[in-house]
Amino acid sequence: MRGRFITLEGGEGVGKSTQIAYARSLLEALGQRVVATREPGGTPLAEAIRALLKGETGEGMDADTELLLVFAARNEHLAKVIRPALQRGDWVLCDRFTDATYAYQGLGRGLPANRIEALEHWVQGDLRPDMTLLLDAPVELGFARVAKRGEAFDRFEREARNFFERVRAAYRERAGEFPERFRVIDAARPQADVSRDVRDALLGLLPAASSRSDAEDADA
Ligand SMILES: Nc1ncnc2c1ncn2[C@@H]1O[C@H](COP(=O)(O)OP(=O)(O)O)[C@@H](O)[C@H]1O
Ligand SMILES: [Mg+2]
Repeated sequence: MRGRFITLEGGEGVGKSTQIAYARSLLEALGQRVVATREPGGTPLAEAIRALLKGETGEGMDADTELLLVFAARNEHLAKVIRPALQRGDWVLCDRFTDATYAYQGLGRGLPANRIEALEHWVQGDLRPDMTLLLDAPVELGFARVAKRGEAFDRFEREARNFFERVRAAYRERAGEFPERFRVIDAARPQADVSRDVRDALLGLLPAASSRSDAEDADA
């Protein structure tokens, strides 16, 4: 059986990297095989596209160019990493995916949703995450955490405050649109509380996965 495809979404500094690391160690401790990855990126070519998106060339970018680059990176990531991992029966934990495109390039940059939908169908076919954990926290709280992390801001992180408010609203709107797929987690709380909700969400998906590995063990 195909592995579980889990995405983590949310603005800057909400704790996505922190919770992916937690989720990975939790699942591995339960004997699951896990591939933890991120978008844009996840392969050498897709990471090179990420560097372009993050503005390392120092020039701006038309919003449609940005959208096309995001999906070019996603196509590569799906072909080389995500689909093979799911085929093997591994869990894939992905730091941002297509919901981020709807939030950042859609509501954030103002690109029409139908362009994103067209690329989503082209690149993904029927593939959608099994579960999306939206880590939701006020914009300024995320930025305070990023500032503490002590890295320079990239092209996205230098956007106006208003841009990030639109991104947060867009994420919450998508969660309302796809309530069966999304779990909205209040990420303003201490890390241990957020992790408890992440754990509960993942354990809810586990029975099918453990009976699969039991079946495989029985076959071996
Ligand atoms: N719930 C939390 N409370 C306080 N600090 C947190 C919490 N979650 C993460 N952090 C810290 O905030 C910073 C940003 O977290 P990170 O996981 O890198 O966020 P993201 O990947 O979403 O940008 C890190 O220094 C991390 O240790
Ligand atoms: Mg991160």
